[in-house]
Amino acid sequence: MKDSEELLNSIPKALYFDDEDRFFILDQTKLPTDEVIEEQISVEQVYDSIYKLKVRGAPAIGIAGAYGLVISLKNSLDLNLESFLDLVHKNADYLNSSRPTAVNLSWALNKLSKIADEFPKSGNSKELYKTLKDEAIAIHKSDIKTCRQIGEFGAELIKQNDGVLTLCNAGALATGGIGTALAPMYVAWSKGKRFKAYSSETRPLLQGARITCWELNKFGVDTTMIADSVSSYLMKLGRVDMIVVGADRVANNGDTANKIGTSSLAINAKYYGVPFYIACPYSTIDINSKSGADIVVEERGKEELIYIKGQQIAPKDIKVFNPAFDVTDSSLIAGFITEKGIIYPPYNFSKS
Ligand code: MRU
Repeated sequence: MKDSEELLNSIPKALYFDDEDRFFILDQTKLPTDEVIEEQISVEQVYDSIYKLKVRGAPAIGIAGAYGLVISLKNSLDLNLESFLDLVHKNADYLNSSRPTAVNLSWALNKLSKIADEFPKSGNSKELYKTLKDEAIAIHKSDIKTCRQIGEFGAELIKQNDGVLTLCNAGALATGGIGTALAPMYVAWSKGKRFKAYSSETRPLLQGARITCWELNKFGVDTTMIADSVSSYLMKLGRVDMIVVGADRVANNGDTANKIGTSSLAINAKYYGVPFYIACPYSTIDINSKSGADIVVEERGKEELIYIKGQQIAPKDIKVFNPAFDVTDSSLIAGFITEKGIIYPPYNFSKS
């Protein structure tokens, strides 16, 4: 039988970067039926993979952005430093425009751009490339550690026989490590705690059904899938003891952007007295957004609602409103499970 550490190490990975500076992702649009690893060889391909959610989840797209920038530079090492710097900025801006809501993408790309700007003018492109590559790897490694810490802190909140509900996928495939919202479940389960996980399917792109159920099932967690419309009834039946979801951007006052449907889950949780937690790394907290009103919510195409796997389910000319995220009011959030511990209200992150 696998011990706790072996079990946690067996969790699938969203992406990796190898010794030959090649960058690979697991194409999440093909889950749960096909596990396809795809090498990323150009900045356009990485943009497309982020936009189409082949790689997705706030921390994972931050890391993908960083590695994407690195691989976009590796064939331009003969440029002089000034032209190389121009390329760094051009490609970082381009990648940053792939998805607007998750702050981790701009956070990682801004970090690399700043390092490039501050690089000694006496240096050359090869040296700068190596510095940027090392930083991208460091961002990835740090996320692996962060997820584990979130898991350890969050596992303490899960009690034997609890019902734990989550939405979308904030698991290993949304990060570089074992996830944020799913990390407490993985750690608790690996230590022998037994509970029931509920995964809300997450229309329209079904990250809960396709990815969270796949991840948790593979690990052996007792998981039940529900349609999104079932969550309130499940709480009424008394089957949910806590809700934990991830975040794409947390404003300074604790208002939190996450997958569409998060806000209504939190409102229902308040009504039924179920504690509602956000699990996220500090890199998802954006102290420059004072409140949720400052967060840009991504709107996606109408075809995501009109078709399911190519099958038309609504009139082609119907009007559609398809926001990918919503913003949950901080007053509904029982606590933030972070790598530094659990943060309880009142929230003012610039002071914590
Ligand atoms: O559109 P997605 O699939 O990228 O949305 C993902 C989420 O909303 C996650 O909950 C969030 O990014 C946190 S991932 C640790």
